[in-house]
Amino acid sequence: MIRIVISKTPEVILALDVDNRQEAQKILHATGEKLKWVKVGLQSYLRDGPDLVHTIADSGKKVFLDLKLHDIPNTMAKAMESLATLPIGMLTLHANAGEEALLLCSDIGKSFLPDTLLLAVTVLTSMDQRALQSIGVKSSVIEQVERLAILSVKSQMGGIVCSPQELIHLRAKLPNDTRLITPGIRPTGSAIGDQKRIMTPSLARDAGADYLVIGRPILAANDPAQALENILGEIRN
Ligand code: C5P
Repeated sequence: MIRIVISKTPEVILALDVDNRQEAQKILHATGEKLKWVKVGLQSYLRDGPDLVHTIADSGKKVFLDLKLHDIPNTMAKAMESLATLPIGMLTLHANAGEEALLLCSDIGKSFLPDTLLLAVTVLTSMDQRALQSIGVKSSVIEQVERLAILSVKSQMGGIVCSPQELIHLRAKLPNDTRLITPGIRPTGSAIGDQKRIMTPSLARDAGADYLVIGRPILAANDPAQALENILGEIRN
């Protein structure tokens, strides 16, 4: 019997890691309506603040605010209240903050950010086995990722940020409606840069990704709009 696997098409999120506001405007203009999601990280948010988030939302795109909140439960909850007026579609929290903090944030999210998908970050992809051991974690990286992902889902998080290599493992362990968001995406032929564990857009789609976070393959391309178009073509085919 031939089994046909139909993968769903993930959405592309542009990581807007640029040095200044002008660059940000330029890339938003160049990518136009083809781009639906933009990720604003610490670099841009600490420089340009809520105003940048409003500018992106006003241009018709959805914002993924990647602040990776990690603090005591009350402080995380209050930080989320401070974001309540922002038009954000996704927000990251560190799963390491623990169940109490994540559950409280989930409750606060329902009241203050009802349209925002809360995402948990498990083990940062910059950490390997040695780095985990140096902070007293004896489990392997994948065991720790799985532990934190399951804890996050139990704590009402809507999605998990993970490396492409963790997609298949997590997809099998988590409920179907848990969104999986992955950076480390490199179309064939594009520069790898500092990413270590990479995957092409179509392989990440087949491994079960719901969203692909992509920065430099689009930002550093001679024609960013064409680079985005090529990636969208690859994941639709
Ligand atoms: O340029 P590149 O495609 O490597 O950008 C990936 C984006 O995803 C960057 O904003 C990076 O900070 C972010 N990210 C990552 N690995 C993680 C979490 C976030 O590369 N584990």
